[in-house]
Amino acid sequence: MLGEIAASLIPEPESHGTTVFLDPMCGSGTSLLFAKSLGWAVVGLDTNPLALLISTVKMKAGSAELQPAARVLANIRARYGNARPESREGVLDNSQLLRYWFWPSSLRDLVRVRIAIDECGLEAFEGELALLALSRTVRHVSKADPEVVPPTISRRRRAAFPIRPPSVWGAFATNLSRMMDTASLKRLEELPKVPCTVMQGDARELPLRARSVDAVLFSPPYGNAHDYIRSTKLEQLILKLCTSGTLQKQSLRTIGRRRSGLQRFEKPRPTGVRECDNFLESLSRRSVECSRHMRLYFLQMACVLRDVHRVLKHDSTATVVVGDGTSQHLRVPLGFLLTKIAERQGFRLEETPLANRIVSRRFMTKRNRTAGVIEWEWLLRFSA
Ligand SMILES: C[S@@+](CC[C@H](N)C(=O)[O-])C[C@H]1O[C@@H](n2cnc3c(N)ncnc32)[C@H](O)[C@@H]1O
Repeated sequence: MLGEIAASLIPEPESHGTTVFLDPMCGSGTSLLFAKSLGWAVVGLDTNPLALLISTVKMKAGSAELQPAARVLANIRARYGNARPESREGVLDNSQLLRYWFWPSSLRDLVRVRIAIDECGLEAFEGELALLALSRTVRHVSKADPEVVPPTISRRRRAAFPIRPPSVWGAFATNLSRMMDTASLKRLEELPKVPCTVMQGDARELPLRARSVDAVLFSPPYGNAHDYIRSTKLEQLILKLCTSGTLQKQSLRTIGRRRSGLQRFEKPRPTGVRECDNFLESLSRRSVECSRHMRLYFLQMACVLRDVHRVLKHDSTATVVVGDGTSQHLRVPLGFLLTKIAERQGFRLEETPLANRIVSRRFMTKRNRTAGVIEWEWLLRFSA
């Protein structure tokens, strides 16, 4: 979500540090940061551990003392020299996937940096910053094009393949110095000191009491437009935020992911929301499989909206940012359909939805022959 959107949609809290703002699918924490800057007590959830690491760092920035970057780097470097990945890292022997995406020496050096971060006894926040810097390094030293999500060996990347693999330590050191400079910005220190909670969880089962939240803003996955697990897999494996086993569990909890287990040719059952069922009927004439995936997405989003409604105080607002897409060349009017699902869960649409033209194309690449680029997103404001 763009910062400008979050800034324009989050209201002033009634009192500092006690009124609760929730983003149940917080991703990299843009909305959390803007809510914090206004003085809300913030709660963020996501299924993806890399998203949580980014959000956690954003929430802590400005509120913890940091050593100078040079000292932190020297500390990690001292361990890096002696780190021996072969002796303890199954990741190097087992993961065919990693061997495909990295030059062998880059893979070894990435793992050495991670071992060094683990072992050099940094303060918690410095350790998190170092891991985040390492996650930023992963793509730049891989064979994947860092500008494309998910990992892709593009023509541009192939043309620019270096003769020798890029220096992992050099890229990591630059990233960490930059991040530590940003995390020490005076502006961040001046942000209100409010309670911030970022946790791994499923937005369909929020670990919050009924009627305990004063405002919600979130941007759910846009149908199955983007695969959040695949696009962060390399970083998660290198950082040891997951193993191939836990990745599987994560992906089952992640909404909008295409599931290979869905019966291909069985006609999808209705969702119970007329507008969604009419749409699924049209889609199933083009592809039964796509229609089944979209149905699953609608049902999952109904669970999310039901639980958001449960935790939200009466008459408080939930704002949803979502873009219309295409599937099998058929327009998916997701803003309209999610409005109907939200109304079924007890929400009222407050005003005419606003539309925003998406300026960043990074996540919005054309996915396949029959699914176009998402160009607009809706800003839907509901009251509970
Ligand atoms: C469109 S992104 C959110 C982007 C975020 N607003 C930002 O500014 O970075 C959707 C997020 O939903 C998360 N997600 C998907 N299924 C989820 C679930 N069941 N519970 C919680 N989060 C989920 C994904 O991991 C992803 O980070």
